[in-house]
Amino acid sequence: MQCTGNRVFYRSMKLCVIGTGYVGLVSAACFAEIGHEVIGVDINEEKVKMLKEGGCPIYEPGLPELLAKNIDAGRISFTTNLDEGINACPLIMAAVGTPVGQGRRADLSQVESVCRTIGQHTDGEKVFVMKSTVPVGTSEKCRVWVEEEMSKRGVDHHIHLVSNPEFLREGKAVKDFLEPDRIVVGYRDESAGVRMRELYQPLIDQGSNYLEMGVESAELTKYASNSFLATKISFINFIAAMCEQCDADVEKVAKGMGLDTRIAPAFLHAGIGYGGSCFPKDVQALIKTADQLGVSSQILRDVEAINEYQRDTFVRKIESGLGDVRGKNIAVWGLAFKPDTDDMRAAPSIDILTMLIDKGAKIKAFDPVSMEVAKKSLPADITLVASDSEALEGADALLVLTDWNNFKEWNPARIAEALTGKHVFDGRNIYDPKDMKNAGLTYVSIGRS
Ligand SMILES: NC(=O)c1ccc[n+]([C@@H]2O[C@H](COP(=O)([O-])OP(=O)(O)OC[C@H]3O[C@@H](n4cnc5c(N)ncnc54)[C@H](O)[C@@H]3O)[C@@H](O)[C@H]2O)c1
Repeated sequence: MQCTGNRVFYRSMKLCVIGTGYVGLVSAACFAEIGHEVIGVDINEEKVKMLKEGGCPIYEPGLPELLAKNIDAGRISFTTNLDEGINACPLIMAAVGTPVGQGRRADLSQVESVCRTIGQHTDGEKVFVMKSTVPVGTSEKCRVWVEEEMSKRGVDHHIHLVSNPEFLREGKAVKDFLEPDRIVVGYRDESAGVRMRELYQPLIDQGSNYLEMGVESAELTKYASNSFLATKISFINFIAAMCEQCDADVEKVAKGMGLDTRIAPAFLHAGIGYGGSCFPKDVQALIKTADQLGVSSQILRDVEAINEYQRDTFVRKIESGLGDVRGKNIAVWGLAFKPDTDDMRAAPSIDILTMLIDKGAKIKAFDPVSMEVAKKSLPADITLVASDSEALEGADALLVLTDWNNFKEWNPARIAEALTGKHVFDGRNIYDPKDMKNAGLTYVSIGRS
């Protein structure tokens, strides 16, 4: 960084981001936005073609505009050619997938492939930043994979390993990246630390919390954070189950808890449980790591069990309201695992709708943005319709599975008029039970009677 008068000039760094999925693409666009020169690399040719043509392969508010601006400014480009990216940049960042693998371990095959390619192609010293969520100890495996490949070529370049987990939320990813609660950076040698500070300097200067630590602590911070949030969700769902047995209202209890600054209101929303590409897999991976380290993982096993119970109980509530669901017409609002994303990975809708289809229900479903993704993720016998109103036509019941604002805007009288039957099963507690009852609807939600 240089200061001339009142102006601050940041050193632009050359960064190669490997994997242009939800995290990689947002990171690449945001690093370009703060002044760096970024090459985004992906093995998915279709995705790279779309990016090169100015398209955006995922639904993420603000991302298309940010990409267009930085492509125009010449700060970001895309390629499928990994060695081109590796050799053009002193900083390489991996943002590839780490899904659940065999035995519920994190599957590190994409990470291994990236490490080996770096070992096969690197032409000099590099800082290798792991942005993917990886179990504690992975950095050591990365070192071995890279060095094995370099030794086959008879070269020995210094690869500085850094852990820089990402905490962005889909749907708010651009804002989360540019205005983060914290940036966590784990490294072993100070020269890597210096380069990471340069990479993040514009965000550090705007006041973002910048935490430096050892690599293992950084790796664990990510799993600890996601598992803690999943625990909050399962905890409030456990309280919701109690509320249903004792005439209490979980929304009131959650508010009473959340106003305590030690607890905070976020993630205290009772519902059909957590889903998405992160919480389920990260809880599983942390259980596995705890087992390997000889530490009891019972707390997280209970978190998972409650999460599964939420989906099963929701289906039981539907059956107890409608009787046998065979042949019943069911309207579904919301398929994505949460609003403002098209991501359906491990969405509760998949489990719930699969159970209902297996029991013979006929389903018409609508989601404001995830319809294309839904075609690939849901059983083929679910009918996907073009609007929320169309889903209601001829339906015996309505299920609300994602709390999109579009659905909150429907007033109960309008729902009662459009829905053929009377039953509404709200898995996200978006309506007031009294209003729904006054509109003549039989309304079942979570933790409220
Ligand atoms: N999605 C989130 O909200 C989120 C948030 C924080 C952290 N994370 C973590 O970030 C990582 C990436 O998650 P994601 O949701 O972006 O995944 P994703 O599946 O959307 O993207 C991964 C991308 O990597 C590409 N890829 C795979 N192997 C490659 C290789 N060898 N070379 C180049 N590209 C390759 C894939 O084609 C894909 O485009 C995961 O570890 C995840 O746990 C995700």
